[in-house]
Amino acid sequence: MSKKIESHLSENRVFKPSREFSKKARISSMAQYRRMYRESIEKPASFWAREAKELHWQKRWKKVLDWNPPFAKWFTGARLNVAENCVDRHLTNGRKNKAAIIWEGEPGDQRVLTYHQLHQEVCRFANVLEANGVKAKDRVLIYMPMVPEAAIAMLACARIGAVHSVVFGGFSAESIVDRLEDSGATAVVTADGGYRRGKIVELKKSVDEALQKYKGVKRCIVYQRTGEKINMRRGRDVWWHKEAEKVSPSHTPKGFDSEHPLFILYTSGSTGKPKGILHSSGGYLVGSYTSCKYIFDMQDDDVYWCTADVGWITGHSYIVFGPLANGVTQVMYEGAPNHPDFGRFWNIIEKYGVTTFYTAPTAIRAFIKAGDKFPDRHDLSSLRLLGTVGEPINPEAWMWYYEKIGSKRCPIVDTWWQTETGSIMISPLPGCTPTKPGTATLPFFGVDAAILDEEGNECGPDEGGRLVIRKPWPSMLRTIYGDRSRYRKTYWNDFKGIYTAGDGARTDKDGNFWIVGRLDDVLNVSGHRLGTAEVESALVSHPDVAEAAVVGRPHEIKGQGVVAFVTLKEGVRAAKTTEKTLKGHVAKAIGAIARPDEIHLTPALPKTRSGKIMRRILKELVATGGVTGNITTLEDFSVVSNLQKNLKK
Ligand code: PRX
Repeated sequence: MSKKIESHLSENRVFKPSREFSKKARISSMAQYRRMYRESIEKPASFWAREAKELHWQKRWKKVLDWNPPFAKWFTGARLNVAENCVDRHLTNGRKNKAAIIWEGEPGDQRVLTYHQLHQEVCRFANVLEANGVKAKDRVLIYMPMVPEAAIAMLACARIGAVHSVVFGGFSAESIVDRLEDSGATAVVTADGGYRRGKIVELKKSVDEALQKYKGVKRCIVYQRTGEKINMRRGRDVWWHKEAEKVSPSHTPKGFDSEHPLFILYTSGSTGKPKGILHSSGGYLVGSYTSCKYIFDMQDDDVYWCTADVGWITGHSYIVFGPLANGVTQVMYEGAPNHPDFGRFWNIIEKYGVTTFYTAPTAIRAFIKAGDKFPDRHDLSSLRLLGTVGEPINPEAWMWYYEKIGSKRCPIVDTWWQTETGSIMISPLPGCTPTKPGTATLPFFGVDAAILDEEGNECGPDEGGRLVIRKPWPSMLRTIYGDRSRYRKTYWNDFKGIYTAGDGARTDKDGNFWIVGRLDDVLNVSGHRLGTAEVESALVSHPDVAEAAVVGRPHEIKGQGVVAFVTLKEGVRAAKTTEKTLKGHVAKAIGAIARPDEIHLTPALPKTRSGKIMRRILKELVATGGVTGNITTLEDFSVVSNLQKNLKK
């Protein structure tokens, strides 16, 4: 990393929430935000205890925080059941017959589950899991389409104390194997398939392939979504609906220790091996509950919709745990935003009267490209609040979202956070924070965010540096599953007792945080993290490939696209189909999200004399077509000039 991180964005437009919005909001003035923020930093124990008391604890905590850096325990001594908080609690607080999930499948089918019905389904599935031998602390891999049963399976695991690990349905069989092996899962919950862009995604087929390699799974429970014929292996595979018929719709929620593991979610890092981020129960629930309540300003008559997939952290915290703990009504949609056309999201907002809409900048850019005619055909007047997550939002996309979708009436919460943080860390509070297009603005309660330079000194306004969090927070990751030393090394090694997020950022003179992007070898493709090393190792696993280097290139819709430079093995001749074959190989190894946009075959890669691939040069080459930085360490300059010529073709 260069000593100073440069940022060229300068944005002066400021948008304040309307008086009408502020008046009804939970946090309605900056003075109120500042007062609560100060308390949350100076007296975190009393601040978080007050928030936590809104939830149901079977046994109260002895201590709010036990901080033994870098290991935190929150609400020590307490016992709770996360599923009881997300579901049972609402049966006695007036929300029993309120819609919890309004679901729409991609083909257009619809279902509504009230909190009462959700409770019955979660209880049934908890009984199914137990009847199939799943116990507390067992790991359960969930590989599902976006159907209510995905949330039900997660909640049922939480209810019996099993640790779920959801794998995004777009990931490949090989990715499933990696996650099964690392987590040591003994059960899988999946479906025959799901619908995406008018086609069936054959989920069970990928699971079958994975289970040929990984033998530790004793039970695979299959939800029937498409009705297509699939393979069911006797003794291992059972149907969800058949198992559910055998059990009762009631189940007593046992209390688990506040630090009981809740889930593992894999995310990419700088090395080829994904990291299993471990979250635990009490602190995570308090974090997702509180952030949801204040940042989405949840009101009892809201219809909330987060368009993420449950396979990502956004789906965990802002589809399943946060919104359900708040007892809100939410919309869940199975399919693609452009099926049958780019009007689908706007149609759903109009149909169900969505008030709060949370999506990703990449989707917004795709909508802009598709044209205004799609939102123009729909009445979006039910909306009152908009949100974004996943990557920095470019000001043009922000303005379009604000004007076209929000009719200049809806505040936008640009929320910065990570799989590791568990809940939103930096974001406007919609009723009070003045927003500027492109900044996630100010830290949320309890978040001591700062920008530090290489030496650990705090940067002044407009000076780029590393984004860090200086105090523990309730929903922070507890470790990397099975690898405490990697946990220490990855997040806590730069500055003593301080969490390094891996992002470069700056603050402006008003204290707003502007995220510049990742500082490590991690790409952000459509708001999803992808390690360059992961794509490289997928490429090198092909028998024809000797070496590969992967870099990102700015991409109009995806934010970043994947560009790969590949050297074939001695004696292997490039064919017309080689690039296509290699792209397909990566998609099969990781998932479609990792498919390179471009593959450049090259006889050699630019390297230092010690043999290290100089990705910086490749990055600059694909972004600008030239190389300007210091290249004196390069072993052979002709490699670069050849690449330059090739790229120009
Ligand atoms: O680089 C930041 C970017 O996404 C990374 C976290 O990725 P992941 O763990 O997959 O979680 C994504 C959803 C929470 C961050 O390190 N990022 C996320 N949100 C924003 C963002 N960058 C800028 N602005 C955001 N609002």
